[in-house]
Formats: sequence, C-alpha cells, structure tokens
Amino acid sequence: MKLFALSDLHVGHTANRAALETLEPRPNDWIAVVGDVGETEEHLVYTWRVLNNRFKKVLWTPGNHELWSLPSDASGLRGVAKYERLVEVCREHGVLTPEDPWVTWPDDPTLHLAPMLLLYDYTFAPDDVGPEGAVAWAREERLRCRDEDLLHADPYPSIVEWCHARVDAAEKALSALPEGHRALVMSHFPLRRDLTRLPRIPRFNVWCGTRRTEDWHTRFPIDTVLSGHLHMRATDWRDGVRFEEVSLGSPKHYSHSLGAEGYLRTILPAPNMPPSGQGGPLWHR
Ligand SMILES: [Fe+2]
Ligand SMILES: [Fe+2]
Repeated sequence: MKLFALSDLHVGHTANRAALETLEPRPNDWIAVVGDVGETEEHLVYTWRVLNNRFKKVLWTPGNHELWSLPSDASGLRGVAKYERLVEVCREHGVLTPEDPWVTWPDDPTLHLAPMLLLYDYTFAPDDVGPEGAVAWAREERLRCRDEDLLHADPYPSIVEWCHARVDAAEKALSALPEGHRALVMSHFPLRRDLTRLPRIPRFNVWCGTRRTEDWHTRFPIDTVLSGHLHMRATDWRDGVRFEEVSLGSPKHYSHSLGAEGYLRTILPAPNMPPSGQGGPLWHR
C-alpha cells in the first residue's frame, strides 16, 4: 500500500475539478490532502466524495482558504468555530483531521501520520522588518494576502496567538511520541523559511509560516514533512529529513493535460534519499 499527497486543490475553479476527476482509483492506498481544498463547505463535500471513491483513507489539514469567512457564508462562523465546523464536515465523510488521534501507518506501526493546523505569525519577515512591520513591508510591493480580510482568529485576539496555541499543542504531542517512534507531519504552511521560495512575490512569505517550527525536524523525531500553500512543487532534504511541497495550485500553476493524476506525490513507501540526507530543491513539473 502507498501514501500519496496533494494540496491546493482549489476546487472552486472548474478546471481544478476536471483535474481532480482524472485521479485513478487506488482502493488500497491513502491520500494526505494538505490544505486549500477550497473556500466553502460544498467544496469540501465535493472533494471528499471524489477522493473517498478513489482512496481507502483520506487525511486532511486545512489551508488558509478553508478558514476564510466569506460574506456569502450564511453561517457567519469565524476563526476556531469555522474550523470546528470544517472538522465536523470531514468527520461526516470519514476524513481524518488534525483533531483526531494520529493514526500509525499500517506497514510501519512506529510511524504516526500527524495532520496539523499551524498557521503563521509573520515571523518569516526579515529581522529588520519584524512581525509587526511585516504586512506594511509586503504592501510596499503591492502584496496583501486576502487572509487579512477573510481569515479571522476568534476567540484569539489575532492569528499570531492562534498560531502559537497550535504550535504549543503540536510540540506537546510530538514530545509525547513513544521512544523510537516518528511523525510524518502534514502542515499546509511550510515549516522553514528557506523552503519558502517565491521568486515572483518574495514578500508573500510573511503569510507562510512561523520561525517556531524551523528546527522541529532536529528537535523532534520527524520522518517527513508535507506542506503546500506555495504552489511551488519541490522535494528538499534537511538533516536527513524529507520536505515535500505537494501543491496542485490555481489553474495557471499546473499543466491541465496532466490532470491531478500527473501531480500526485508518492510519500510512502519513501523513495531513496540522497546519501547525505541533504539536498534539493528537486523541482517537480
Ligand atoms: Fe493554495
Ligand atoms: Fe494556502
């Protein structure tokens, strides 16, 4: 059996739905969906119907897009309440979320599949800008993430506090792994600044992660890290740990003739590592 991964399905785009439908049935395999499925409950439900028909088990962690509170959403849910509603929708479809106990990989009971909602705290901004100046610094290059208007943190005062609470909880869970066990971390947001490569919009990195997770792969027994959000598909290695950016992306970010089938990343069984466990980026088409 295999574990596959894909993120940033963005099924609000008709083209992305067509891409998703290209996936072949793999009734023995699992898939990790690493956030940005879409913006509405209908987007989630549609996606879980497609993927439950193709895979044995689906795991999900939210992206920023799922957490948006759109003016058209009659529920009016914001922040944590919005997230909890999304978790409910996933559970109605048997999809595992960051709120479920980590499951172990059937072929390796010491490997825990760990979907996480970690968010960001603007600390990917350079030192001389600082988190407080990050949004204004990005605005100098006419960049402003829609999260600033649509992603709310209630009941936390801001996304910074929500992010820190999530990181605290995740660190506690990683510390509690039994001796000799490892985690396969799934976070929509990349764990390290040096993996946040956005050549056309470098200052967008302020909405991409938190420095608090940069040394996680050496502090905790982490086997592999999956992330999305960047729409820049790559494989990297740091200190013997594999980092996979597994985005499909917006319609302009992938080749429609390949469909999602052409972008499905194999995570387990793990491919051969470079002998040093270092290297990358290995860019994917
Ligand atoms: Fe995305
Ligand atoms: Fe995203």
